Amino acid sequence: MSRKKIIAGNWKMNKTPSEAVELVKTLAPLVQNPDVDVVYCVPAIDICPVAEAIKGSNVKLGAENMYCEDKGAYTGEISAAMLKDAGVEYVILGHSERRGYFGETSEDINKKMKQAIKYGITPIMCCGESLEQREQGITIDWVRQQIKVGYQGISAEDAAKTVIAYEPIWAIGTGKTATSDQAQEVCKAVRDCIAEIYDDATAAAIRVQYGGSVNGGNAAELFGMPDIDGGLVGGASLKEDFGKIVNY
Ligand code: 13P
Repeated sequence: MSRKKIIAGNWKMNKTPSEAVELVKTLAPLVQNPDVDVVYCVPAIDICPVAEAIKGSNVKLGAENMYCEDKGAYTGEISAAMLKDAGVEYVILGHSERRGYFGETSEDINKKMKQAIKYGITPIMCCGESLEQREQGITIDWVRQQIKVGYQGISAEDAAKTVIAYEPIWAIGTGKTATSDQAQEVCKAVRDCIAEIYDDATAAAIRVQYGGSVNGGNAAELFGMPDIDGGLVGGASLKEDFGKIVNY
């Protein structure tokens, strides 16, 4: 089965609403590649203006987080229904910054995964090890555990449509990209884990991204690996370099 590549920008906490619209305009002519799903995952306050700005283009809209309940007294949170109504098709869940700074657990992320699926939003579930874990040789065990908990109670049919982003924490924002062999090794382990939980067809369908200091210079090699179906891009998604990544 051939999987369509998916290249998503994670803008993190960058760009005011007016700056966001400017960035969309700047990138518009650079990110046209019919062979790739291009997604901008943007801060909550930028979702509506970016939805407007990408209208009629190939770019799809994503959020960076959401809450697991339908609605109610959860001050400051954003629901799947709100995202859906605003035109969001993808949501990043369990980014290492959310796990690290905001204490999100794999159990929390599992609830959010189910909620996103319930509302027809495609989760991009992040996993990845710290430098210490890599040095201890427990990378694959750790990532497998994150996936097993993250996908608990999710059907094969639903899982097949999700996206997993493997992002080694030591490679995020450091300029220290994983080598293509290191990235491939873990992305393959991710796919094998999905095959174990579900079956080969689900593993063959699910898209696995690599994230961590992806740029216009290293994208082609990374995305050329057999189990890497694109990237989740931080810093470089805010610059014209993102066009090079999309057209790797
Ligand atoms: P950088 O591309 O800035 O390393 O960030 C990666 C990332 O965290 C994307 O989610």
